[in-house]
Amino acid sequence: MRLLVCGGAGFIGSNFVRARIEGHGDEVVVLDKLTYAGRRENLQDVAEAPGFRLLHGAIEDREAVARALGDAEAIVNFAAETHVDRSITEPDAFVQTNWLGTHVLLEAARERGMRYVHISTDEVYGSIDDGSFTESSPLAPSSPYAATKAGADLLVSSYVHTYDLPASICRGSNNYGPYQYPEKLIPLMVLSALHGEPLPVYGDGLQVRNWLYVTDFASAIGHVLDHGVRGEVYNVGGPDECPNLEVVERIVELTGADPALIEHIRDRPGHDRRYSLSSEKVRGLGWEPQVRLQQGIEQTVAWYRDSPWWWEPIRSGEYRQYYERHYGRALSAD
Ligand SMILES: NC(=O)c1ccc[n+]([C@@H]2O[C@H](COP(=O)([O-])OP(=O)(O)OC[C@H]3O[C@@H](n4cnc5c(N)ncnc54)[C@H](O)[C@@H]3O)[C@@H](O)[C@H]2O)c1
Repeated sequence: MRLLVCGGAGFIGSNFVRARIEGHGDEVVVLDKLTYAGRRENLQDVAEAPGFRLLHGAIEDREAVARALGDAEAIVNFAAETHVDRSITEPDAFVQTNWLGTHVLLEAARERGMRYVHISTDEVYGSIDDGSFTESSPLAPSSPYAATKAGADLLVSSYVHTYDLPASICRGSNNYGPYQYPEKLIPLMVLSALHGEPLPVYGDGLQVRNWLYVTDFASAIGHVLDHGVRGEVYNVGGPDECPNLEVVERIVELTGADPALIEHIRDRPGHDRRYSLSSEKVRGLGWEPQVRLQQGIEQTVAWYRDSPWWWEPIRSGEYRQYYERHYGRALSAD
């Protein structure tokens, strides 16, 4: 297949691009704004693959999108501002990319009658105390991040109903694994533990997440792209639920860090307590998650331990200022 993958230089997008090139022989063009979270290094091992190109551009730029589309058969859209904490302090870019950018891609897909797969999140449903969200659960986003993602999902659905656009939506639960920017919980804790830095846990740390290893999400998106019913939404939840604090404790054990480094800090405003997805529908397409949480954390710790080439430039760049602004202290020197 010839694919345009927007946001393909980020964490999940780059894992998806690698899976499609190596597993399916797809020809992939990536359109990416290369924000702090988008990095050429994430795709360096597929840079020479036949048909692969990485184009620097924003999804809200109609001309850049038209140029990138070429003879693509489908658009898969990962491009987004993704960090909830940043959406609380700087929401503008979230509205711009997540909502307006999605609209530009939908218009391009509509003009060409193209297949469009939109990557979304369990956060659009808000928090759930018991049971799991299905695809028909109401949307009740809590953060500006989640609200812009929910808005984009509604826009996609409106294009399905109004213009018969052959679009599908994949709502994933919390992802983790290689190439994730260290502002997010698991890589933040792994890198902090490896550097002997404090491990800042929001509130009591008992927020429960439905952890999904990134290659499992990438394969679920592939199933939806190849076999998904047009117009449908698919929830993709990980095989294990676990409170954040327990995830941090497992990382402490695997890295041999001092448990006294765990530090409870003031909770994130509006922090959702629990996410949980029912994945029955996507399982009906033949998808099964392959990586349980303990194995996934072990693989992730091993990857970060072995990949200073990847994280050293991050820890000396924008991330250093972000960390200082957000946690009110400096990162240690590498
Ligand atoms: N990380 C998770 O746990 C998770 C879970 C479910 C769904 N999602 C969704 O999956 C998608 C990818 O998430 P991620 O964790 O890989 O994010 P990420 O922050 O690692 O990557 C986002 C990518 O989008 C690019 N980008 C940002 N603004 C852009 C713009 N205006 N135009 C073009 N490219 C732009 C960035 O440069 C980066 O490469 C997002 O849509 C996110 O909402 C993430």
